[in-house]
Amino acid sequence: MGVAETTVTPTFDVDRVRADFPILRQQVHGHPLVYLDNANTTQKPQAVIDALSEYYLSSNANIHRATHLLSERATRAYERSRVLLQRFINAADSHEVILTRGCTDGINLVAQAWGRTFLKPGDEVLISWMEHHSNIVPWQIVCEQTGATLRAVPINERGELRIEEFDRLLTDRTRLVAMIHVSNALGTIAPIAEIVRKAHAAGALALIDGAQAAAHVPVDVQAIDADFYAFSGHKMFGPTGTGVLYGKAALLDRMPPYQGGGDMIASVTFEKTTYNTLPYKFEAGTPNIAGVVGFGAAVEYLNGIDREAARVHEDALLAHATELVAAVPGVRIIGQARQKTSVLSFVMDGIHPHDVGTVLDNEGVAIRTGQHCAQPVMDRYGIVSTARASFAFYNTTADVQAFVRALHKVKELLG
Ligand SMILES: Cc1ncc(COP(=O)(O)O)c(C=O)c1O
Repeated sequence: MGVAETTVTPTFDVDRVRADFPILRQQVHGHPLVYLDNANTTQKPQAVIDALSEYYLSSNANIHRATHLLSERATRAYERSRVLLQRFINAADSHEVILTRGCTDGINLVAQAWGRTFLKPGDEVLISWMEHHSNIVPWQIVCEQTGATLRAVPINERGELRIEEFDRLLTDRTRLVAMIHVSNALGTIAPIAEIVRKAHAAGALALIDGAQAAAHVPVDVQAIDADFYAFSGHKMFGPTGTGVLYGKAALLDRMPPYQGGGDMIASVTFEKTTYNTLPYKFEAGTPNIAGVVGFGAAVEYLNGIDREAARVHEDALLAHATELVAAVPGVRIIGQARQKTSVLSFVMDGIHPHDVGTVLDNEGVAIRTGQHCAQPVMDRYGIVSTARASFAFYNTTADVQAFVRALHKVKELLG
């Protein structure tokens, strides 16, 4: 313990960014809040909170429909966020950015609009053992609907994808590879550029689940060459109920709509309905307009900080926490990939993770416990759940130390 903040992150002013997150100033059970549940959802900077309230104070109206000034303002703000998000992931065109309710919504969109249309018996969808349920169940549903088969690439003991198994399971029957970018249960960063390249060489498409990546690692969808890339606003300092599905325009154009309703049509008659152009074809009904405006504010906030320095800071926190937690007697760290970010999952001998979480909460330390919507990962390690600390750039070395002190208290009380 005891690495000074300045030693860990010479170029990242964590106190300055913390000041932007008012929620972090509170006490929990008589202790300063130590928020280490960022993989679950991140906290929101004042700029996002202000954007939401400013939207409702001055611009609230429905979008794309009315001719009045408020509707124009709301439409402009909503579409501005789309462009900010396009630039954030370096998409070639803003109409390749579908605004969704979140990562889960985006993956289901592809499963139903693309998968249900194009998959047939004999086809295969290839995922991995470290997927979140959001990137498993939509494929199970569509495989059941179409007669296609779902296959999963195993992971090794460190929690890394077994590339030789990926190579073996990727065949001329594979139509889609759907793979996690960063594992929420293990922190593993998957080699997605290599995965996409190999998928394409085998004639398959590639979808990447970027829910845990967008807040931590740079995402350039053109460099990755992903066909689809899905992520959530709330895991990158934006509001809940927002997300992006990026898709290559040529593919999105060939896919039928996912849901029918207002805004997604060009013309409706009882004889024949024609659909709107991209991206509106996939945005039926009134969306989470305020949320999308807030999502844009979150991207602007991220654009305003030194993200490379933030990443160095987060990596240093993870390394520091890993070292200290590994030294607690009876602790087993789950997930020790060589390429890792922001997630520290662990179990403690003879102590249920839920009890770990409860004692930590009493000390003001918020972590997540459970299977993390990744039951196959738990099965892989022969456990039912883990305790998980997950970091964001606003966490400090003092947070790590408070967390480890609380773990020692768990040992004292329950060990
Ligand atoms: C890797 C991963 N994929 C998908 C999701 C689903 O995201 P959401 O619940 O925001 O749709 C999560 C959420 O934890 C996740 O960690």
